[in-house]
Amino acid sequence: MSWFSRVYHSAIGKKAVMAVTGIFLFGWIFLHMVGNLKLYLGAEHLNAYAAWLITMGGPALPNRAALWIVRILLIVAVWLHIQSATQLTLMNRRARPIDYRERDYPAATYAARTMRWGGVIILLFVFYHLAHLTFGKPVVPASATFIEGDVYHNVVAGFQVWWVSAIYIIANLALGLHLYHGLWSMFQSLGLNAPKFNAWRRYFATAFALIVTLGNVSFPVAVLAGLVR
Ligand code: HEM
Repeated sequence: MSWFSRVYHSAIGKKAVMAVTGIFLFGWIFLHMVGNLKLYLGAEHLNAYAAWLITMGGPALPNRAALWIVRILLIVAVWLHIQSATQLTLMNRRARPIDYRERDYPAATYAARTMRWGGVIILLFVFYHLAHLTFGKPVVPASATFIEGDVYHNVVAGFQVWWVSAIYIIANLALGLHLYHGLWSMFQSLGLNAPKFNAWRRYFATAFALIVTLGNVSFPVAVLAGLVR
């Protein structure tokens, strides 16, 4: 077995894959939230931003080329992230085959224990979210009918339905916990876990998870409160 294949098949290699793909996914989710802040500037700004995503990279690249490069990287990163997580879980089970109910979590935080279920909730949410805002499938009431190219309308009309907003708020709270624990353990996986760094690691994970969560949760809340209409 080559050095690469030995590392890739080891638990450390899988944790490194989770950390590297996690950094990419986190960077994307952070930029996605920052881009969506244009909701507060009004329809013209948010729709212009959505149109720019299509022409991004032009005129050197044709329309949607850069968008598709990012999409392919996202799909690969999500795939590797979930694959490594599943393989690590199976490796841990094989190494310590005790029943789930008998497990004892003295040091594990609530966020650490919810990583797997949180991950499943986030994945289900992404399918719902793509159906809602990218593909315009009928996953929202008729009052929020999808209009191609009018992202502002699609977001606002969707969030005016309380249960659509509830789905987004719950999923984004789950994402917040996932990001918090993911950012925290990423340093461990990358070997940056000297005790003197620990307080700094906690501040970093808390601040970034809070910024993304507060930003994302603010959108449905602002629409429900009538601040954005
Ligand atoms: C309240 C929070 C969010 C809002 C308002 C929002 C809004 C949007 C909108 C408007 C689009 C369509 C953009 C377009 O067609 O131009 C979109 C696409 C997308 N969103 Fe979100 N989003 C939110 C949270 C999230 C979260 C938490 C995730 C992932 C966990 C996510 C993942 C995606 C993905 C993968 C796409 C497709 C991107 C592409 O077309 O390449 N979004 N989002």
